[in-house]
Amino acid sequence: MLSSQQLVDKLVCANLKALVPYESARRLFAASDNGATAQVPVWLNANESPFANDYALDCARLNRYPDCQPASVIKAYAAYAGVNNKQLLVSRGADEGIELLIRAFCTPGQDRILICPPTYGMYAISAQTCNVGVETAPLLADFSLDLDAIKALKDKVNLVFICSPNNPTGTSVAAQQIKAVLEHFADSALVVVDEAYIEFDATSSFAPQLVNYPNLVILRTLSKAFALAGIRCGFTLANDVIIHTLLKVIAPYPLPEPVAQIASQALSDKGLALMNGQVSQIAQQKQRLKQALNCFADIELVGDDKANFILFRCAQKQGLMDFLVSAKVFIRDQSKQRNLNNCLRITVGDAEQNQQLLDLIGQFFQRAGQ
Ligand SMILES: Cc1ncc(COP(=O)(O)O)c(C=O)c1O
Repeated sequence: MLSSQQLVDKLVCANLKALVPYESARRLFAASDNGATAQVPVWLNANESPFANDYALDCARLNRYPDCQPASVIKAYAAYAGVNNKQLLVSRGADEGIELLIRAFCTPGQDRILICPPTYGMYAISAQTCNVGVETAPLLADFSLDLDAIKALKDKVNLVFICSPNNPTGTSVAAQQIKAVLEHFADSALVVVDEAYIEFDATSSFAPQLVNYPNLVILRTLSKAFALAGIRCGFTLANDVIIHTLLKVIAPYPLPEPVAQIASQALSDKGLALMNGQVSQIAQQKQRLKQALNCFADIELVGDDKANFILFRCAQKQGLMDFLVSAKVFIRDQSKQRNLNNCLRITVGDAEQNQQLLDLIGQFFQRAGQ
């Protein structure tokens, strides 16, 4: 009889053998938040919202399977995004949208996607889990797209992922650059613009361009500005035949009924007003944090501030990380990403959390200077 380990070794898909799963912010620090001390952890590492809003739940339909694409959510998000209902798919977070695109448009063992690092890690991980190859065209030193490198990959990739505003650099990609990519790949690839953070840079959305570019796909989420990372709800915007194809591979009941109810409330007029107010508060806090961080001689701000986080370089990044973790204040190490040596990323929290973080950073440099 083979042991489970022997069976796994024998049967596991070849492309999964070397795969390191995505180190989500929660996975990384789950052990540090063991409740052993009374200290309340401060989570500034996953670009979540600091606000927790209240919602009502109607349990009358919980005995029934939910709709695959709940009409109330589709209608409300389509109105919010300025697209029609058929140009929209709702899924378990934008992460599921990424995976559906790869499963629907890339043949395993044969096709490839293109990513522009440093960028969001899930494009590559999703591709690897689907046995789909990953081509890279790294961002230039100013974090703009390297158009020559991207264009050279024409006919080699089926999907091009562009993250704007980009995680973790906080930079938005210039509209002219995105248009150049859309045009270059017009007859060969879908161009996926990940707008997970678009509410923090609202005027730069590509949603109005869906009518002009048949190969444009946009990813959105309720996890960031809408303060609903916990419900796992994201959207894919694209022309109807693309959405229709994604519906072939989505699970029959992707969206739990409570998620649909909460999403509908978040997308109501009241919900949108709440979201807009909270985005403004985060913008204010972000400026405050930036100013304060700029006062530390050993900190150099990196990238831009188009999202709800700040990236910075610090020669003593490991010491600072360890010090913050020991105080249960969690930020994210980005130093393994291309061109981001010694870089850390802070999610903008509420006033109190940001102050706590700044106080600790001050203490760290004081001690380091002694
Ligand atoms: C750029 C980007 N896209 C997508 C996601 C995932 O969003 P969701 O929570 O909707 O799966 C994230 C989460 O951090 C992100 O940073």
